[in-house]
Formats: sequence, C-alpha cells, structure tokens
Amino acid sequence: MVLRALRAGDARSVHEAYASDPEATRFLAWRAHKSLAETRRYLRQTRITAQQGTEHLWALLLKRGGLIGAAGIRPCGSRIEIGYVLGRAWWGRGYATEAARALTAWAMRQPSVYRVWATCDVDNKASARVLEKIGMTREGVLRKWIVRPALGPAPRDSFCYSIVKAREKRRAGNRQGAARS
Ligand SMILES: CC(C)(COP(=O)(O)OP(=O)(O)OC[C@H]1O[C@@H](n2cnc3c(N)ncnc32)[C@H](O)[C@@H]1OP(=O)(O)O)[C@@H](O)C(=O)NCCC(=O)NCCS
Repeated sequence: MVLRALRAGDARSVHEAYASDPEATRFLAWRAHKSLAETRRYLRQTRITAQQGTEHLWALLLKRGGLIGAAGIRPCGSRIEIGYVLGRAWWGRGYATEAARALTAWAMRQPSVYRVWATCDVDNKASARVLEKIGMTREGVLRKWIVRPALGPAPRDSFCYSIVKAREKRRAGNRQGAARS
C-alpha cells in the first residue's frame, strides 16, 4: 500500500470508495455524501485543515490499483491522534492495520511526540481490534464523546486508545540520580 496526500483530483475515487457509502461512514463524524459535489467540498475543507496544521489526510492506494481509503493525523503539541477509513470492498485484509501501524510508527519517531492516540465508537469492533493489533492500550471510555450522525443526534461513548513513550521517565530518573551523586 502507498500513502500520499489527498488531492482535489481524488474526489470521484473518494466518493466511490467510501464517502458515499453509509456503511463505511457509519462510525465517522460525518454522514455519507449524497453527491460528488459534497465530496469535492469535503476535500477542499481537508486542504484548509492541512494548511492550518490541524489535520493531515493521506489517500491509501494499492500499489497495483486505485484509492481504497484514507488515513490521517491530528497533531496537537506532544500528542498525535490517528484515524482511518477504508472502502467496504477492502475490509478484512489487514489494510487499516498496515496504515495505522505506519502512521503510528512515524508519529512515535518524531522527537516532540510522546503520545499517539485514537478513539473509536464502543460498537466499532473492527476499529478497536485494529488499534489493539498495532499495540495501543485501551485507556477507558470517553463518555458522550462525539456525535456520529449516522447513529443519532446525541454524542456517543468512544473507547480511547493510546501508545506512549516511556523514555522521558528514564531521563527524569537519570537526572535525579545525577543530582543525588
Ligand atoms: C475499521 C476499519 C478501518 C477496519 O479496516 P480493515 O482493513 O478491515 O481492518 P483490518 O483488516 O486491518 O483488521 C480488522 C480486524 O478487526 C476484526 N473484526 C472485523 N469485524 C469485527 C467484528 N465485528 N468484531 C470483532 N472483530 C472484528 C478482524 O477480524 C480483524 O482482526 P484480526 O486480524 O485479528 O482477524 C474498516 O472496517 C472501516 O473503514 N470501517 C468504517 C470506518 C471506521 O469505522 N473507521 C474507524 C473510525 S475510528
């Protein structure tokens, strides 16, 4: 699989692969798009969030084939949140795990990042499994965390998963040791 920045020219592929599918978007924070124009607007918006540095999305492409989904990060200080969505046709083949693992590994290599995290709806078993497979720990439930419009108007409970760097602890320990000696 290859990751590259999502671009305006991806609108049709994004629309057909997952954005127009109520099943693929069921657990997302937005409803399935009813028209290609809506997907175009969505991609324009993702360009703005990328410029602002609040969210970066990549297209997931098969080396021999087209766009199958997207994955993204939301950086915030020493934390990076990850997310992903795949077209239904490609579920169950390990692609989300591959993408989430790659993004997490990249994020953890950034010196300023100490926490990589993700949330998923408490009913989203596949996504919870992906996060467990890449080595994240379930920290608990964020109650009434986010509205998932396909599932109703009220915010829903979400699992919170993370992986953190333990290194700073050791450094702090070393500093204490040095101060004592
Ligand atoms: C969640 C999603 C990204 C998973 O993608 P995927 O490529 O099918 O995931 P993978 O194949 O890498 O792994 C899925 C794992 O979940 C398991 N799984 C799938 N459905 C499951 C279910 N109903 N109950 C328990 N486990 C389930 C699979 O067996 C697999 O685990 P395994 O390798 O141990 O067998 C995909 O289903 C999707 O795009 N869903 C819609 C959007 C979404 O929910 N995004 C995440 C928002 S947090």
